[in-house]
Amino acid sequence: MMPQKYYIETFGCQMNVHDSEKMAGVLSKEGYLPTNDRWEADIIIYNTCSIREKAEQKFFSELGRIKSLKKRRPHIKIAVAGCIAQLQREGIFRRAPHVDLILGPQNIHRLAGLVGAPSHTTANEENPGIADNDLPVLRNRGGRAWVSIMYGCDNFCSYCIVPYTRGRERSRPSEKILSEIAELGREGFKEITLLGQNVNSYRSDLDFPGLLRKIDSLRSIERIRFVTSHPRDLSDRLVDAIANLGRVCEHLHLPLQSGSDRVLNLMNRGYTSGEYLEKIILLKERITGVSITTDIICGFPGETEEDHGETKKMLKEIEFDGIFAFKYSPRPGTAAASMDGQVMGEVKSRRLSEILELQDTITLKKNGGLSNTVQEVLVEGYSETDLTMLSGRTRGNKIVNFMGDSSLIGSLAMVRITEAKKHSLEGVAS
Ligand code: SAH
Ligand code: SF4
Ligand code: F3S
Repeated sequence: MMPQKYYIETFGCQMNVHDSEKMAGVLSKEGYLPTNDRWEADIIIYNTCSIREKAEQKFFSELGRIKSLKKRRPHIKIAVAGCIAQLQREGIFRRAPHVDLILGPQNIHRLAGLVGAPSHTTANEENPGIADNDLPVLRNRGGRAWVSIMYGCDNFCSYCIVPYTRGRERSRPSEKILSEIAELGREGFKEITLLGQNVNSYRSDLDFPGLLRKIDSLRSIERIRFVTSHPRDLSDRLVDAIANLGRVCEHLHLPLQSGSDRVLNLMNRGYTSGEYLEKIILLKERITGVSITTDIICGFPGETEEDHGETKKMLKEIEFDGIFAFKYSPRPGTAAASMDGQVMGEVKSRRLSEILELQDTITLKKNGGLSNTVQEVLVEGYSETDLTMLSGRTRGNKIVNFMGDSSLIGSLAMVRITEAKKHSLEGVAS
């Protein structure tokens, strides 16, 4: 018999992308083959995201499109995994009866056993053992690998659905993390990114700075990154670890969300703008050339023009290297969804474009500061827009497209920056 083929489409965050690598690992171990063409797949998996309404809509329209595929090839199995699977359960079967399996993000370890289960099977129980489930991972990224260090989130920011989809926060035992990273080093990976909704609240026998220290001393990997850090849990010890450990990259993604103390409080973020600013000052003081990026939400319930102005003020004062900004999207079941003062769509859109426009000039200025410097770049492959150029990232996580020999792919190269653009840098190998 021909081996069966699976196709996975991923929506959402890095955690989901890495979960897809785990699902691929589980299926490949059972003898299934990957395919990039859903029309020839025997198993189709959608790994979904519910962080904003738009992400959900994208998935449901795709689900509608493949209805005809199931009609034509009734033997295929369609599975819905990820955060929508966790939340909407039976709602998905009702809306899309052609779905066979619902698999929540805490149940990936059961995938192989469930592929042959009767249609309309649901597996989305809480899995307190998730941090101990070691799953095979099928990775596919030039020299860079993701490593899960914690699961779930206990923060309950009032706008956010993640604590409801990913369950309670659990840290993975440090020895499992360390042995996975040692193995990745032997396989030739140059960079790892430690993953968690709130990595700096990692706690097992080690805390997060302690874990970083151990990983750094393995000497098996050139570069260590981590996402996402919560400003409230950014300790002096963590700042020192980033400053002192040679392999830890000088980049932090530190979501601010809003510059207004009133809004931060409504968001249940656990810090004020002043406290956030103090941490930024510390980071800039102690870590030479630190690069800081952030997330901003525009139009949170009750956000006034004045609050919005406070956010712009913070952006000007801090000068982030880059931001991700989003219009607030009410998520059913979260505290903010039923708050008074929901902001109109047009107002959110206008505030979002003001924020993005302001940040564009700041990013360009920050990138300009790197002109004529020499940066260490991990070369990932060819540039997406110009196949005569190579592309990679600096330690500060900035994309660099540059002229150089293709033998550099997969290695660290020193690159002289010749031009700064809004979303990338250009340079030549030096
Ligand atoms: N755990 C991470 C990532 C959470 S999701 C963290 O705490 O930062 C990534 C970003 O999506 C968040 O930082 C937030 O800016 C945004 N986000 C989350 N829920 C949202 C919502 N309901 N509407 C708009 N943006 C949202
Ligand atoms: Fe969501 Fe807040 Fe948890 Fe991040 S820290 S995942 S924004 S609840
Ligand atoms: Fe989306 Fe779930 Fe990640 S909601 S952002 S896929 S944790």
